[in-house]
Amino acid sequence: MHVPSLKEAKIRNKKEVLTKTYENIKESKLEKLGLNKTYYIKTYGCQMNEHDSENIKAILEEMSFKETDTMENADFIILNTCAIRENAHNKVFGYLGRIKHLKQEKEDLIVAFCGCMAQEESIVKELTQKYKWVDIIFGTHNLHELPTILYHALQSKKQEVEVYSIEGDIVENIPVKRANKYKAWVNIMYGCDKFCTYCIVPYTRGKQRSRKPEYIIEEVKALKKQGYLEVTLLGQNVNAYGKDLNSNYKMENLLEDVAKTGIERIRFVTSHPWDFTDKMIEVIKKYPNIMPYIHLPLQSGSDRILKLMGRRYTKEEYLKLYQKLKEALPYSSITTDIIVGFPGETRKDFEETLEVVNKCQFDSAFTFIFSPRVGTPASKMEDNISLEEKNNRLQELNKLVNKYAKERNDWYLNKTVPVLIEGFSSKDETKLMGYTDTMKLVNVDGDKKYIGQIVDVLITDIKTWSMDGKIKTD
Ligand code: 5AD
Ligand code: SF4
Repeated sequence: MHVPSLKEAKIRNKKEVLTKTYENIKESKLEKLGLNKTYYIKTYGCQMNEHDSENIKAILEEMSFKETDTMENADFIILNTCAIRENAHNKVFGYLGRIKHLKQEKEDLIVAFCGCMAQEESIVKELTQKYKWVDIIFGTHNLHELPTILYHALQSKKQEVEVYSIEGDIVENIPVKRANKYKAWVNIMYGCDKFCTYCIVPYTRGKQRSRKPEYIIEEVKALKKQGYLEVTLLGQNVNAYGKDLNSNYKMENLLEDVAKTGIERIRFVTSHPWDFTDKMIEVIKKYPNIMPYIHLPLQSGSDRILKLMGRRYTKEEYLKLYQKLKEALPYSSITTDIIVGFPGETRKDFEETLEVVNKCQFDSAFTFIFSPRVGTPASKMEDNISLEEKNNRLQELNKLVNKYAKERNDWYLNKTVPVLIEGFSSKDETKLMGYTDTMKLVNVDGDKKYIGQIVDVLITDIKTWSMDGKIKTD
């Protein structure tokens, strides 16, 4: 049994991170463990978690489990959780309540709890005390150990808790069952060393560890060969890629090498303004297969709050970078993340955030009310703003964000833009759907033969969060 410790998770050791391969650590004798059994995964949170679930699915299928699409039918339910804000927590505990009922009806149902919440000391304590019926708890650093943990849980018939606070080595070649046939997520790094004061990620995902470039390039080449058209390079703070590799190989080098593979579309998330170099901008400009789309979290427009958040840039620096990006890449779309109601945020601070939004006129923004996370410095800061006031600020901000999102989209009316057609629209089965190079969702009229292709689409109607269009070649 290994339980997480917040104190240990904070530590950044200088230990060299080694690279292992999954083939060398998996135990082949467990390949039949899931025979005639089904699994169901419920995933919360970011793309990183979604991608982890793609790995978990493939690991389970190597053990002969088969996927089922309802949790009621499953013999094994896995909850892959998110810890970023309180509401993610609440949703997970609500879901656990539903699973408890199933477990009462079906005695041999196996339940696993993993992801970022499993890395939290207080959560694991609660699970071991009040949720003893959860069979397996494992963390973000050891999902590759799932077969062995499951095996032990089935043998011992006791709750197995295997969560490490300190990240281990990088494991390459973990199998993956991708959700999409044309777009793939590719991890380029794990963890984060920025320690923004509100953020739990540096504790739940550990220290920054970059994958070696050769593995990333190999993965992209293999994806291209399999017919994938788009890769999204994933990391909590991708611009800091390579800083831990003891070489001069940085994000701009990686972007360039990935671009040279010739894969049609490359995206990368998430960027921190601090590490966005001029060289990166040059590379993005030079290669047409690096998409003109940048997610650049602002968090706040007040220097005072940015300092309290530990963001390491000022409003002016953010605006300067934004300007530079827009000048170099005028066609690009830029989106952001903003937190309102950070402890001590005054009306004036908030107005400075609105001012930056007015200046940047983002293509879209994810907006959040500050949520105190146990163990982070911001959770201990004095917070005297009422929830009502925070909600009002969020509404006010959203109104402004939506106005600019619509205005940005309006530019596209009657223009022809490239769209990767992914499949049928979930809202209207008679339409196709896909994303532009600038990451705008388009519902498209056209023949289904274009699914899996990048085609020219004439934009015919604009909404705040999507557009309508028709395929030009039709
Ligand atoms: N409270 C509210 N929002 C948060 N985010 C991260 N931590 C918190 C928190 N404690 C937001 C940030 C980040 C996005 C992924 O989630 O805006 O960029
Ligand atoms: Fe969290 Fe992002 Fe800051 Fe890292 S850079 S601590 S993931 S907000």
